Amino acid sequence: MAPSDLPPHVLVLFGATGDLAKRKLFPGLFWLWRNGLLPKEFRIIGSGRHSPGTDEEFREHVRAAVAPEDGDWDGFASRIGFQTSSAEDGRDLAAAVVAAEKEMGPDVRRLVYLSVPPSAAIGMVRMLEANDLHERTHLVMEKPFGTNLASARELDETLLDVFEPAQLFRIDHFLGKEAVQNILALRFANGLFEPVWNAAHVCYVQIDVPEAIGIEGRASFMESTGTFRDMISTHLFQLLGFVALEPPTAIDPRGLHEEKAKVFRAIRRLDPSRVVFGQYEGYRDEKGVADDSTVETFVALEAYVDNWRWKGVPFYLRTGKALGAGRRTITIGFREPPLEMFASDADGTPNELVLELTDDAEIFVDVRAKRPGPELEIAHARMSLKLVEAFPGSTAVEAYERLLLDAMRGDQTLFTSTEEVERLWELCDPVLADPPAVQPYAQGSWGPEAALELPGPRGWRIPETP
Ligand code: BG6
Repeated sequence: MAPSDLPPHVLVLFGATGDLAKRKLFPGLFWLWRNGLLPKEFRIIGSGRHSPGTDEEFREHVRAAVAPEDGDWDGFASRIGFQTSSAEDGRDLAAAVVAAEKEMGPDVRRLVYLSVPPSAAIGMVRMLEANDLHERTHLVMEKPFGTNLASARELDETLLDVFEPAQLFRIDHFLGKEAVQNILALRFANGLFEPVWNAAHVCYVQIDVPEAIGIEGRASFMESTGTFRDMISTHLFQLLGFVALEPPTAIDPRGLHEEKAKVFRAIRRLDPSRVVFGQYEGYRDEKGVADDSTVETFVALEAYVDNWRWKGVPFYLRTGKALGAGRRTITIGFREPPLEMFASDADGTPNELVLELTDDAEIFVDVRAKRPGPELEIAHARMSLKLVEAFPGSTAVEAYERLLLDAMRGDQTLFTSTEEVERLWELCDPVLADPPAVQPYAQGSWGPEAALELPGPRGWRIPETP
C-alpha cells in the first residue's frame, strides 16, 4: 500500500470509551497507523461526558482495546489524549483541538467521529458549531440517523445548516466491507451476470444476516433502537441497494448515490402484515432490559422493488440476535429452465447464486450437473470462488479502517446520502407506525415460525439442508 500523503489531522472521537471505539475504531486506527496509512502528523482526542481518568489511564484503556503485539505502541499512544465535552459545553475540547493543531503546523484538517444516540445528535452538532469545530472538519456520523422520517429530516436540516454536504460522511459500515464492494465488482466488471440480473431470470432474492451473538451488554442501545432500526433500515437495505441498483454512470459518490436513491424510491413502502418481529427467549432477563420489553431482536420481511428490472421479484430480508449461526448471505434464485428434460431435476431448489459476505468471502453458484456414473442422474453441485484463494498475498482491509481512511481522504463513495436515508425511513414508516406483535423464539433457532414461512415453499437458504 502506498504511504499516506494526507495532510495533518486531528481526530476527535466522541463515545471514545464506548463499545464501538473499543471494538472497531481504535483497533482500526492502530492498524492504519501500523500500515503507514494515517497522516504522518496526527493527534487523536477521545471525548465524552465522563472522564476515564488521566490521559495515561485513557491510553491504557485504548491499549487494552488494541492489544498491540509489538513495540509500536508507544509511537501511537503518544498521540492520544482525552477531553470531556457535552452538548452544553465544548470549550475545553475546542481548546484541546486548537492546541493539538498548533503542534502540527498549518493546514491541519479535522475528522470528527460522532457516535451518539439519535436524541443527542442535534445538540452535539450545535455544540461543534458553537465552538468552531465545524470548520475544516469532515464529520463522520454513526447510524441510526434519527428514529423515523420526521426526526431524520430534523437532523438533516441541522447538519446542512452547519456543514456543507461535502463535509458529511454518514457511515454504514457494511458498505466498507470488502465482500460488499465485491457485489459491484461481480455485477459491473463482468459481462456474465448483468444480462440475467432482472425479473425475467431471477425469481427471488434473500438477504440474510443472522447473528449468533446476543446483545453483548448493549441493553440500553437495543431497548431504545431495536433490530428494525439498527439493522434493517440501514445495513440490510444498503445491501439490497447494491444488489438491485441500475448500473451507475461511474463508481463514484454521485453515481452510486443517484442509483441507490433511485432504487430506494422504487421500493414499495413496507407492508406490516409481511413483516415478522421476534424476541429471543431470555432477552427480558438481560441486565438493563425491561421485564415487559416488547423490543424486537429479530426481523424478517418481504420487500418489493417496483421498477422495470425487479417488478414482481420478492426480496426477503432477515436478521436477528441469538440465532443459529452468524452469517451474511445474499442468495439470488434463478427461474427454472422452460422444459424439464431430466427425470431427477425437479427438486424444488433452482440455481442459486450465493454471496457469502463474511471476512472469508465466497461467491458460488449452485447448479445441477450430471452425477458421474452409468445413469444420466442429475444432482446439485457447486461452482465456487474463494476470494482469499483467488488473491493470495493480498491484504483485506476491515470496514472501519477503509471508511475512516475514505473520510480523511474526503471520498464519500461508500457513505450514504441524505436522500437515501430519508427515503429508507419513509418506506419503513408503516412498520414503525403499526409494528407487528413481537413473537418469541428460542436462542440458537432461526426465528419465530411465522418468519420461517415468510419466503414460501423454498424457505430460507440458511440453514442449508445437507
Ligand atoms: C452494528 C449493529 O451496526 O452492526 C450491531 O449496531 C451488529 O447490532 C453489527 O451486531 C454487525 O456488524 P458486523 O460487521 O459485526 O457484522
